[in-house]
Amino acid sequence: MSSASSLLLPPEPIAHLRAYDPQADAGHAVRVAQLSLDIARVFGEPVDRDDLYLVACLHDLGKADLHHLARLPRPLTPDERAAMEAHPRRGAEMVESFIGVSAPVKSWVLHHHERYDGRGYPHGMAGEDIPLGARIIAIADVYDALTSDRPYRPGWGPGEARAYVLDQAGTRFDPHLTLAFELLTA
Ligand SMILES: [Fe+2]
Ligand SMILES: [Fe+2]
Repeated sequence: MSSASSLLLPPEPIAHLRAYDPQADAGHAVRVAQLSLDIARVFGEPVDRDDLYLVACLHDLGKADLHHLARLPRPLTPDERAAMEAHPRRGAEMVESFIGVSAPVKSWVLHHHERYDGRGYPHGMAGEDIPLGARIIAIADVYDALTSDRPYRPGWGPGEARAYVLDQAGTRFDPHLTLAFELLTA
């Protein structure tokens, strides 16, 4: 996978992340940012790279008070799941009030768990109604989450996680963007 742009990444978004969520997984944030930029580059449609990097670093800021849930070695209860699924709204409020981001940046944080088929959250948006930046980050986020160890499972291998992403083209993910991901990871 290309990492040519990794040397150009500015440090400020990670400084924001550490300031507002000291327990955040900065490695996940940077890997999601890098992969998001790479997908956007191969996809070719203009998207502001600084905004994309900022949002990719801060997409889970709304989990700042929820790290104890992510560490549980068991499935979440319905109430815990509802709290966890509120993190895009909470994160969007946080980036707006703490960092004063633009409207697109806020919307990309808000919609990073929407699905292309409309079965995601928080709004159940579908297709290209979902902002482009959020559709890009969704792929990078899931790929990196699958390849990372969790308390309840070891990380998947890159090939297995890639196959999952490609299998979800048109359901979970934008099929045009999964094509860019496929080319990028070939
Ligand atoms: Fe998230
Ligand atoms: Fe994430």
